[in-house]
Amino acid sequence: MDYFDYKNGELCCEEVPVKDIAAEAGTPVYIYSKATLMRHYSGVVKAFAELDAIICYSIKSCGNLHILKLFAENGGGFDVVSGGELARAQQVGADMKKIVFAGVGKTDNEIREALTAGIGWFNIESEQEFENLSRLAAETKTKTRAALRVNPDVFDPNTHAYTTTGKKETKFGVDIDRAAAFFEKYGHDANVTLDGIHLHIGSPIYSPQPYVDAITKTLGLIEEIRAGGGKVNVLDIGGGFAADYEADKSPSAQAYADAIVPLLKGTGLQIILEPGRHIACNAGILLSQVLYTKRGGDKKFVIVDAAMTDLIRPALYEAEHFIYPAHLDHDEFPPNRRFDFAPANGEQVDIVGGVCETGDILGKSRTLPPMQRGDLLSIFSAGAYGFVMSSQYNARPRAAEVLVDGDSFKIIRRRENYNDVFAAEIF
Ligand code: LLP
Repeated sequence: MDYFDYKNGELCCEEVPVKDIAAEAGTPVYIYSKATLMRHYSGVVKAFAELDAIICYSIKSCGNLHILKLFAENGGGFDVVSGGELARAQQVGADMKKIVFAGVGKTDNEIREALTAGIGWFNIESEQEFENLSRLAAETKTKTRAALRVNPDVFDPNTHAYTTTGKKETKFGVDIDRAAAFFEKYGHDANVTLDGIHLHIGSPIYSPQPYVDAITKTLGLIEEIRAGGGKVNVLDIGGGFAADYEADKSPSAQAYADAIVPLLKGTGLQIILEPGRHIACNAGILLSQVLYTKRGGDKKFVIVDAAMTDLIRPALYEAEHFIYPAHLDHDEFPPNRRFDFAPANGEQVDIVGGVCETGDILGKSRTLPPMQRGDLLSIFSAGAYGFVMSSQYNARPRAAEVLVDGDSFKIIRRRENYNDVFAAEIF
């Protein structure tokens, strides 16, 4: 559920027709709905309230400072995976005690930065990393807490191979059968209190069941660790809750909670969640303008000013996003966002960008009303892993980002210019 809808034939974000935003901010432009972000965020908070869980919004999914500030002001913590993301959290005055730092390749500098910042937990991905963290804590005369990222060997068949993380033989975490020994070896470290378990089984996970499987296995592990004299006070169940790329495809936060909360209630564990996509995905669109239409063999192409540089998910994962015009002349209103929706006057097209790559496709074989040069096309469900994964390939300046709040909007990242593209270069 989000606040993007057609009113009198015009696509609006909350109360603002998106064409007004295009007129001021230009295209391509990412447009986010504040009400949708807050609705999804508080949906997760409410659903897991019984566990008094810490919600660590995953910065990697959509990390604009303005948006992070909204969550920080509402008591949220953050999941970071780099020094850069930690710096973002610091910029918005986040509570450092509610920061979890994951990632298989933390550098010494990043670790030092996080130690000095006094973050809540390091999510540890290997034996060597734990030893390095302990060494750096001693060097910086700091103490910290850590959770061991365990690989529970579960997976969701609907998750793309590139975003599946909870199976054996992915680079993440430590195999669950090595975890008890890990606690025995490192559970009494002088600098790092190892007292948590971290899971992140993939993204998106379209049903609660893989969480139930992973948590059930992990609770068994926690018993084993405790029996061996180790302590586990924290369980971080990671991110991965799905979002609606097509209408009504993803479970609600409440549906995940209904399956998960009963397993964790009464365990005395501090629970942490790291949702990203579930909060940001449907809260953002990428608005683009049609540059040209053309034929190639039997195919018709709609060439837009957004490209794989702005939204790489279709090119990288063959991910599908619902795409539809921002202005409707006739009775072309899509009753719901489904990739196979075909308006009566529609024609089948590929929607592509202008980058010099055949793979620069935003939407394949979609039926759209006839498109003209200058028309605005909205690429929906682009709020998560959209702008954050954009690049300057082909020396294309990155798009602007806009946040809508009711009947007003604000540019929260200006469009880049050519100087931004080569600012760091020396010649
Ligand atoms: N926690 C950890 C340790 C993660 O690795 C991730 C995502 C999250 C939390 C947040 O997951 P979410 O709640 O957003 O599903 N670029 C891909 C997604 C990669 C996800 C990486 N890790 C995409 O566009 O689908």
